[in-house]
Amino acid sequence: MVLAVTIIVTGGAGYIGAHVVDALAAEGRDVVVVDDLSTASEARVGDHPLHRFDLAAPDATARLTQLLGDVRATGVVHLAAKKQVGESVARPEWYYRQNVGGLGAVLEAARAVGCDRLVFSSSAAVYGEPAGGVVDEDARPDPINPYGQTKLVGEWMIRAAARAWGLRQVSLRYFNVAGAGRPELGDPAVLNLVTLVLDRLERGEAPLVFGDDYPTPDGTCVRDYVHVADLAAAHVAALDYLERPAPAYDTFDVGAGQGVSVTQMLTAIASATGTSVLPQVVDRRPGDPAVLVATAARIRTELGWEPRRGLDDIVASAWSAWRAQREAGVEPIRPAR
Ligand code: WQD
Repeated sequence: MVLAVTIIVTGGAGYIGAHVVDALAAEGRDVVVVDDLSTASEARVGDHPLHRFDLAAPDATARLTQLLGDVRATGVVHLAAKKQVGESVARPEWYYRQNVGGLGAVLEAARAVGCDRLVFSSSAAVYGEPAGGVVDEDARPDPINPYGQTKLVGEWMIRAAARAWGLRQVSLRYFNVAGAGRPELGDPAVLNLVTLVLDRLERGEAPLVFGDDYPTPDGTCVRDYVHVADLAAAHVAALDYLERPAPAYDTFDVGAGQGVSVTQMLTAIASATGTSVLPQVVDRRPGDPAVLVATAARIRTELGWEPRRGLDDIVASAWSAWRAQREAGVEPIRPAR
């Protein structure tokens, strides 16, 4: 008899979380979602049980402890968090409460019931503005905003729990995530380059380029874009990794290991959407490093993970998801900056 494996996915109704739920379910795991639906949609969760509460609320540890025990959870994938850099600069105390406090509740509950597998959603934002721009996990983290700080503190917290009570844990540092695994799961937030550009194109406005005088080949910033379905697969690989007798590492960059400039991205979007609106170059955005790209060597060798979808897939799937949302009457979420 095969014992059912139940994984709790916090933030499982969100953009990335819903892809993680899909990927786990496809591998035969039972999935239970915890999400406060503050920036997410119930429709994304499908048939998986959804428990709606805020992990930073005062009763969160008790509720989560009860739930982990009831479903006999074998592991947690913890994505629920706030993720807007600008908002984190404006409201740092709230970001710490949500992201660090929420993780505290997860760890307390997991410890209380002996649930000792955790995959944590971290971010390339922990690196800040690294010299040279191409990083690996040995680079010294030096976040430059409260959002990135909360992710680094999260990594410290789960490592401390590993030492204190044997939690088996992995942090996945996401680079620039875009695309959609299926059209219903597109990113509803107009927050990052791809959706910002699609939103402007739809409204007949020129896409904005935040600076073209960076020390890069075409003068625009270079990032490492990873398809959200590939990122989701990395969570499955990370959970499998935790079953090894002695995992050698607990931190993995999740990127394609390839730099794509803003101009290259705009060209790919223009080709996918069939638009030819000339971009408008505006001032640099404060806090943007010229280059931030992962070597992504460790995740390939240790987890056997590699990206299967390239830039064209990222852009084409983002575009079809964007149109699907519009056809379904879903309005884009334009966060306050
Ligand atoms: C990408 C590039 C912009 C919009 C952010 C967070 C990071 C992580 C992912 C997560 C940059 C340029 C953008 C536009 C542009 N957060 N740009 N015109 O800043 O690399 O990473 O999201 O959870 O912590 O910092 O991503 O998509 O905002 O920007 O020129 O209209 O595109 O300057 O170089 P970023 P982004």
